Amino acid sequence: VQYENIIVSRPEPNVVLVQLNRPKALNALSSPLFKELNQALFEADQDDTVGAMVLTGSEKAFAAGADIKEMKDKTFADVYKNKFLENWGEIARLRKPVIAAVSGFALGGGCELALMCDIILASPTAKFGQPEINLGVIPGGGGSQRLAGIVGKSRAMELILTGRTISAKEAENWGMVSRVVGEGEGQVVKDAVAMATEIASKSQVAVQAGKEVVNAAYELTLAEGLRFERRIFHGLFATNDQKEGNLCEIFQSQAGVPDF
Ligand code: HXC
Repeated sequence: VQYENIIVSRPEPNVVLVQLNRPKALNALSSPLFKELNQALFEADQDDTVGAMVLTGSEKAFAAGADIKEMKDKTFADVYKNKFLENWGEIARLRKPVIAAVSGFALGGGCELALMCDIILASPTAKFGQPEINLGVIPGGGGSQRLAGIVGKSRAMELILTGRTISAKEAENWGMVSRVVGEGEGQVVKDAVAMATEIASKSQVAVQAGKEVVNAAYELTLAEGLRFERRIFHGLFATNDQKEGNLCEIFQSQAGVPDF
């Protein structure tokens, strides 16, 4: 498929890399861009040879938000009737893990897009923020809900109500990103691809189950979540991967028990 707003590649045989590619607009998330992004990610999700995906932007911007030029003349009736931004949430339905490799600006919808991914790695240049308040609106791509769940009420309120941008380091301290990688052009993508490659080397069923149960932690009560986790855990005993796994070997070497 020929895309206009993204570049899709295979840096490793079982990893798909999607790069947002509207450099002149700092990867502003226009509707055509989001349509292509969904298409590329869902194609990778359905491809048995793919184990994990990496999503990135440019050195200067992961994405500077929803496309302000596209939004500015829209009326309430336009956005309501056309379900504006409703297709953004589809990314959260992907079964396979998506790692966001963030350099530069991840603002507004760009920050929300990173938060929709499963793991965020940040370059030291990354800047996160929800500046919608400066445009007289609020986050509309799940930002308020996901951010509050991840960094807590006070910090989510501060970002959303002041529009302040935070550094990669601060985002790391707040638990928004797993870690800040070393300096250097392309480093964050290299590290994200290495992580995706490692994930892709594991049992795909177990990886998808792991993603599903962690996500459940954000939606279910503790009692429901624990029951869900246990059922999925039990279910994995029916897979070949579990039979091939080295549980038996570990037990034998530790306890000296005979074959079982
Ligand atoms: C459309 C954008 C854009 C955006 C930048 N550009 N952000 N176009 N939508 N969100 C365009 C600029 O118009 C300009 O194009 C080019 O990208 C370069 O931007 P500059 O401003 O010249 O770059 P710089 O001075 O380096 O400043 C970078 C910046 C600034 C600080 C990131 O661009 C900025 O504040 N952008 C807006 C960030 C923002 O408010 N995002 C939230 C959007 S609202 P031209 O053609 O003029 O050279 C949002 C709603 C989410 O995301 C709710 C639903 C999900």
